[in-house]
Formats: sequence, structure tokens, C-alpha cells
Amino acid sequence: MLPDIKEVLLSEEKICERNRVLGKMISEDYQENQGLMAICILRGSFVFFADLVRCIDFPVEVAFLHAASYFGGSTSSGEVHIPDSNIVDVEGKDVLLVEDIVDSGRTLAKLKDTLLKKRPKSLKICTLLDKPERRVVEVDVDYCGFQVPDEFVVGYGLDYDQKYRNLPYIGILKREIYS
Ligand code: IMP
Ligand code: MG
Repeated sequence: MLPDIKEVLLSEEKICERNRVLGKMISEDYQENQGLMAICILRGSFVFFADLVRCIDFPVEVAFLHAASYFGGSTSSGEVHIPDSNIVDVEGKDVLLVEDIVDSGRTLAKLKDTLLKKRPKSLKICTLLDKPERRVVEVDVDYCGFQVPDEFVVGYGLDYDQKYRNLPYIGILKREIYS
């Protein structure tokens, strides 16, 4: 374990097991028409996304969207930027947004709002982590990996100041690193 990490919250094995369950649920739910566009919300969900889509048992179309609300800190700025939303064509498609963590809910609320205007056939949300205590804006999550306590976590795609994304597990970052 890295010295910057206070505690491993979710091990590689535990995440892998949960991904298989989520993949099975998604496979069953979309079994009928098997047309699914999975959208990876960058950058935080790139690791989760790559693992999750390989747990779905029919061919999936993948797309990538940037969403940013943090600028080097550990709390959201409150403003969400989605610079390339025009390049993803979701019209008439079953869309699954794949996010790393829902915190205030602002990122997903903004993404949902933006994409619904482009008239997808359906729009669902899958998040690896959920911090329900921190919610400011209500969002319905369809698939959730784990609920986590109100602690700053890194690894498995999640960063602090663009670091720690490559850790294979999810750990709680020591407070002295970000305060
Ligand atoms: P929200 O818009 O407040 O829901 O924030 C969502 C985004 O904030 C996520 O996609 C993450 O990129 C980031 N975030 C929230 N909590 C954490 C955390 O504990 N560690 C790393 N990133 C986080
Ligand atoms: Mg993110």
C-alpha cells in the first residue's frame, strides 16, 4: 500500500466480483434488443468502464465524454463542463452513462440534462461508487457498485490532482495530502 493511503476501502478482488454482478444485471436488462451505447465519463471512470463493458455479454457500442468540475482540489467547483457533448450521437439509442462516483450529483444531473435533449431511446446511469451523504442534486442511479462513506477516495481511475488513478484498489487518501 502507498504511504499516502490511510486505508484500502475496496480491494481489487472485491471490485472485480462486483463488476461481474453489475455486468450480469445490465446484460439481463438489455437482453431484448441488445443495442446499448455505453458512455465512459472521463477521466475518472476509464478503469471501471473498461472492466465493466467486458462483463456485458452482448456487443456494446462505446463512447467517451469529458466532464469536469474539479480544478485541482478535493471539492467540486459546482460548475460542470462537458466540452465534447456534441460529438456523441445518442438519438434513438439505449444509453448507459458510466461514472466513477456520485458525490453532489451535479455532474450526472448536468450530463443527464444535456443528453436527454438529444433524444436517446432510454438513458440509465451506472456508477461504481455513491456517496449519498454528500448529495445536493437528486439523481436516480440505476446500477451502483458500492455506497461509500464521506471520505476522499482515490485509485481504480479516481484521482486527487490527477494522481493515484493507476492504483488497482480504492483507498482513502490521508487528509494531510489534500488539506
Ligand atoms: P459530483 O458532480 O459532485 O457528483 O462529483 C462527481 C465527480 O467528482 C466524480 O466524477 C469524481 O470525478 C469527483 N469526485 C467526487 N468525490 C470524489 C472522491 O472521493 N475522490 C475522487 N474524485 C471524486
Ligand atoms: Mg468523474
